[in-house]
Amino acid sequence: MTTADQFRIKSASIAGRVMSPDEAAEFIRPGDNVGMSGFTGAGYPKKVPGALVRRVEDAAKRGDRFAVSVWTGASTAPELDGALAAVDAIDMRMPYQSDPVSRAKINAGLLDYLDMHLSHVAQMVWEGAFGHLDVAVIEVSGITADGELIPSSSVGNNKTWIDMADRIILEVNAWQPAALEGMHDIYYGTALPPFRKPIQILQASDRIGVPYLHCPPEKIVAVVETNSPDRNTAFKPVDDTSQRIAEHLLEFLAHEVKGGRLPASLLPLQSGVGNIANAVLRGLDGGPFHPLTAYTEVIQDGMLALLNSGTMSMVSATAFSLSDEGAADLHANIAEYHDRIILRPQEISNHPEVIRRLGCLAMNGAIEADIYGNINSTHVMGSSIMNGIGGSGDFARNAYIAMFLTPSTAKNGAISSIVPMVSHVDHTEHDVHVVITEWGVADLRGLAPRRRARKIIDNCAHPDYRPMLQDYFDRASATAPGKHTPHLIEEALSWHARYLREGTMRPS
Ligand code: COA
Repeated sequence: MTTADQFRIKSASIAGRVMSPDEAAEFIRPGDNVGMSGFTGAGYPKKVPGALVRRVEDAAKRGDRFAVSVWTGASTAPELDGALAAVDAIDMRMPYQSDPVSRAKINAGLLDYLDMHLSHVAQMVWEGAFGHLDVAVIEVSGITADGELIPSSSVGNNKTWIDMADRIILEVNAWQPAALEGMHDIYYGTALPPFRKPIQILQASDRIGVPYLHCPPEKIVAVVETNSPDRNTAFKPVDDTSQRIAEHLLEFLAHEVKGGRLPASLLPLQSGVGNIANAVLRGLDGGPFHPLTAYTEVIQDGMLALLNSGTMSMVSATAFSLSDEGAADLHANIAEYHDRIILRPQEISNHPEVIRRLGCLAMNGAIEADIYGNINSTHVMGSSIMNGIGGSGDFARNAYIAMFLTPSTAKNGAISSIVPMVSHVDHTEHDVHVVITEWGVADLRGLAPRRRARKIIDNCAHPDYRPMLQDYFDRASATAPGKHTPHLIEEALSWHARYLREGTMRPS
């Protein structure tokens, strides 16, 4: 046993199963359903996927096809999703991805992708809806003397993969801080109906589980030691458009507090990732709302900054999603963060019951919105996937206020993100309360469809596209057979058709 083993793998019997990634990958067979750890580039296995790719390439040299189905928490990294997709080693992928190689394969029809609500995954696997889980490859940050697994920088679906898989391969990553121990809250009380009980989270800070993943030792077939960083996402400076969207959102929240509809400390926040989310979180820092809490999916740099400044008291999530600088900050100051961060399984971080009870304020990105408030978060021009729905549906459907944020145009103005009819629907008009672009806020609550259309066109559309939208709406209102949600059915998607034909939605 090496010193590193003794440090991270305290169970002598499990340490005896340490082997190379190539040896461990031998436990994965063609056609297997493979559950992998990983959520937004945090806590995914770093070495076994590469070894699996080598097996796939060797099989190809012999003229054999070697492919598996890959189930994860959410997105992973180029060395997992990208590397496996590049050698066509994935038969079916679920539930979320954001990898450019996978995306290209999916959109070319070479990889089947099941894009689903993240809170649904565990229960559907327990139901057996996807077949049997053969093997799980799980990154952990350590193993206790009793054989308990100390989770890594994400929890995702790891509890379910460990419970359901026949064989477990562990990657013990010494790059992850040992002090992650104790930050997780793994709840073992979930069940299928009719045996379900209430999830007793009454505040974002409630702990209802244990800090470790339980794993029957006889299922552990291999242990691989790694020392590799997560796929940290570069932190981009906030651009002007994101800044303006964030300002509108903050004004909206201030208006709600002033009107007595939200408390001064707001309600637990849920925030997606990316430039707009960064701008929002930065705007909240040192602002009038405190102490904030978050009941969300991922902890990005902006959340750490809010914890640092004391504006936020605690965060509950299922994973980190940090830049290199954010990860360095977490590693250097983990003792400061330790008791103010809780990482939970994703069926709990995204649980509809808890989100509804806490009254989360959901802030998610959109690809496009239509004049009646339907949102497309996943598809470009109706048929190509971008990433997936992720947790946006879990949160939006159950949030106290569901907000969707998007720049009013894409591709240098060639596309209006506000369109007559979305080319794909992820969040229906019934689940969308507020739409925000750099031009303003459309608060849709309490508005019937035609009133929503007027508000979205006036407040959110880019001025260059407003007359076109108004003209569409006026003609639809005058001539559509139904006046409840007036549409010109043959014309509703003509903006997308024009873009596909001419490279712009603007009329020539
Ligand atoms: N039509 C066509 N393409 C569009 C578009 C539109 N209306 N709006 C945006 N795009 C393209 C952009 O051009 C960009 O493409 P590129 O990568 O080729 O440059 C891409 O979509 C991403 O757009 P961007 O403006 O950079 O937005 P983003 O990084 O904030 O992502 C979503 C926006 C919707 C893709 C992203 O929020 C997402 O995947 N959401 C679904 C999952 C989710 O909400 N998760 C959070 C739950 S916790």
